[in-house]
Amino acid sequence: MRIPIDSSSTAPLYRQIQDFLRDQISQGLLEPGAKLPSTRRLAKDLGISRITVKNAYLNLESEGLITSWEGSGTYVMVPIHSTTVSSSDQIPSWPAWQRAFESDDHPESQEDNRGPEPVDMISFTGVGDSQEYPILEFTRALKAVIRRQGEQAFNYGAFDGGYLPLRATLAQILASQGVKAPPENVLITSGSQQALSLICQTLLNPGDVVIVEKPTYNLALDLFRALNLKIVGVPLDEEGMQVDRLETILNKYSPRLIYTIPNFQNPSGVCLSGTRRRQLANLADRFNVPIVEDDFVGDLRYDGRALPAVKALDPGGRVIYIGTFSKMLMPGLRMGYLVAEGPVYAQLVKAKRVRDLTSSPLLQRTLYEFVTVGRYQMHLRRSIKRYRKRRDAVLAAITEFLPEVHAIRPSGGLFVWAALPEGYSSRQLLPLALEQGTEYAPGDIFFPYPAKGLRYLRLNFATQSEETIREGIQRLAAAFSRMAV
Ligand SMILES: Cc1ncc(COP(=O)(O)O)c(C=O)c1O
Repeated sequence: MRIPIDSSSTAPLYRQIQDFLRDQISQGLLEPGAKLPSTRRLAKDLGISRITVKNAYLNLESEGLITSWEGSGTYVMVPIHSTTVSSSDQIPSWPAWQRAFESDDHPESQEDNRGPEPVDMISFTGVGDSQEYPILEFTRALKAVIRRQGEQAFNYGAFDGGYLPLRATLAQILASQGVKAPPENVLITSGSQQALSLICQTLLNPGDVVIVEKPTYNLALDLFRALNLKIVGVPLDEEGMQVDRLETILNKYSPRLIYTIPNFQNPSGVCLSGTRRRQLANLADRFNVPIVEDDFVGDLRYDGRALPAVKALDPGGRVIYIGTFSKMLMPGLRMGYLVAEGPVYAQLVKAKRVRDLTSSPLLQRTLYEFVTVGRYQMHLRRSIKRYRKRRDAVLAAITEFLPEVHAIRPSGGLFVWAALPEGYSSRQLLPLALEQGTEYAPGDIFFPYPAKGLRYLRLNFATQSEETIREGIQRLAAAFSRMAV
């Protein structure tokens, strides 16, 4: 079979193969029941590794387009709806108002758009280890809530800041970190992404300038872009945002918001130093600019002492703090929160109400139950122990197999941020890494201007065992050595 593949393209080879075959199937050029070449044969024909072809086949299989029969081969499936038209056939029939959206896409920031993961891929993307999610314990809490409070739990509840006992528990947890917030200042949101989105939509207008660390969380960048905000980046080093550069930027751009991730920053893993936290809070106050402090993973600390939250340095109403249970518990809960004082709090509650009325009362109550019986703390302790070893494993493997790569040692969180030698691009390395059976988040997606991040890559070490991490870094080293020649 002849499949046009372009090894200079940024699209990984397995994606090129699967896209080509998908098109052939949807256009009827490969008919239901047609036999595909074996992975060995196709790999040989195309002069690529067998694992690449296998990965493409596995993905098409999970899309329901092909099927493999042990000992017989791989075949194109009979479509479930045989009248389904191909996506290319559909386009002309979209109404005009739909066609206006066709090109409105920002693929550069997508890190998780590669479809289902091939089975033997060692992935350094993602968040926590889903195999360790406390599903049984959470189910027990869920059942207890349904048994005891089913009627209230399945009702809307008040359209206010959320389930008050959960907000009170969060206030207690935050107090132990120096953030003094009465439950009345806590608003439960659908993940911290919604918290950030509500803040931006309440405080900002299109064209306003928002200050971010450079690099920063890619989906915050996407949100800011979607709201037509101007993004200005402040470089960071191993002590976090270089706050000494901030005053000039504040003078020059008159920003309307500063977005910071002071603990185990995404993607760099660094923490903002205590001195800089105080400088940042002072500067923002002097220039009358609100700070959003995104503490997405602050409880996952592996060494050293916790630093005071920027919010803990706020005499009141200057800093809006956002947190989440996504990384320290399970992202599918979509449980996050924000803490804000002053008139803005009521505006944020209103913004939440008009957007989705309330976060699930059932899950809020279950989370409350789960946290108050001590299961959350237990899970956290287990995760810290496990992830600390994984952090050490990834750093050790980089030192052993990729000595050319500079990696920052994080004292907590989920990510190691690594730099390839000058002149190398992590975008070009990615297809080679995928061929070797490993993947990571390329650094450019974390920069307001992607070209700045080409040397970097972000490795999530939390999702794999220590042995698998070692194997994954060896695969990455093999990919790198192919690039280096
Ligand atoms: C820094 C940071 N903030 C916020 C979020 C949003 O998470 P969620 O909406 O699941 O709470 C993420 C998710 O990856 C993140 O990395």
